[in-house]
Amino acid sequence: MKLTKTRIDGLFQVTTDDKSRLVTCNKVPGNSVYSEKLYSINGKEYRGWDPYRSKYCAAFLSGMKKLPQIREKKILYLGVSTGTTASHFSDILDNGILYGIEFSPKVMRKFFRLAEQRPNLIPILADARRPEEYSSFVFEVDLIYQDVAQPDQAKIFGRNSQEFLKSGGLGFLAIKSQSIDVAIKPEEVFSKQIGELEKDFGLEIQESYSIDAFEKKHAVIIIKKP
Ligand SMILES: C[S@@+](CC[C@H](N)C(=O)[O-])C[C@H]1O[C@@H](n2cnc3c(N)ncnc32)[C@H](O)[C@@H]1O
Repeated sequence: MKLTKTRIDGLFQVTTDDKSRLVTCNKVPGNSVYSEKLYSINGKEYRGWDPYRSKYCAAFLSGMKKLPQIREKKILYLGVSTGTTASHFSDILDNGILYGIEFSPKVMRKFFRLAEQRPNLIPILADARRPEEYSSFVFEVDLIYQDVAQPDQAKIFGRNSQEFLKSGGLGFLAIKSQSIDVAIKPEEVFSKQIGELEKDFGLEIQESYSIDAFEKKHAVIIIKKP
């Protein structure tokens, strides 16, 4: 088994005889979060990262060039769910922190349990459409990661970027075209959302990429706040 670094700090590739996969170094050795495979290499434990369950991993494997680094960031994660992706960010983070916003109490219960084992995860039960509800808990962030699958995805991102994203900060926005309009082509949906981010919120689009190989009719947009 061979372990190699990737261009993202804290993200590695494990190569075995027949395949290779992305992994992060487990901050809670012995624990698997979503039944992912664990690998022991040179006295450390690594967790396999499933691209079918995480859009960051899917975007990396799809060849996206401008993916933000994670390691030292303060991250606001909108739609954190049970924490599948957030658990890998938690592995990567060093000196950073992740505020996880989720509005489903049932889902949030699982994320709370994950956060008990991982102090760099801060769970917040709230609606991402109402940043004023959590503005007293969240301070300025370097990165907003959003995966909420809602019809008003651009507006949710825009409002949160006005409230929390530092100037020069980045955004990772996963867009599911089916959540917005099933009647028009996904490409049209994506370009409308991009237009809204640029015109209504003054944000810069750095890269926009389809992750269709892993998630049908999904795109990822990397955004910068000037
Ligand atoms: C596709 S899942 C996220 C999966 C997660 N990003 C991961 O990779 O582990 C979308 C999540 O967003 C949550 N969500 C949707 N709309 C929301 C809103 N307005 N505020 C907070 N959470 C929301 C849903 O409850 C769901 O758990």
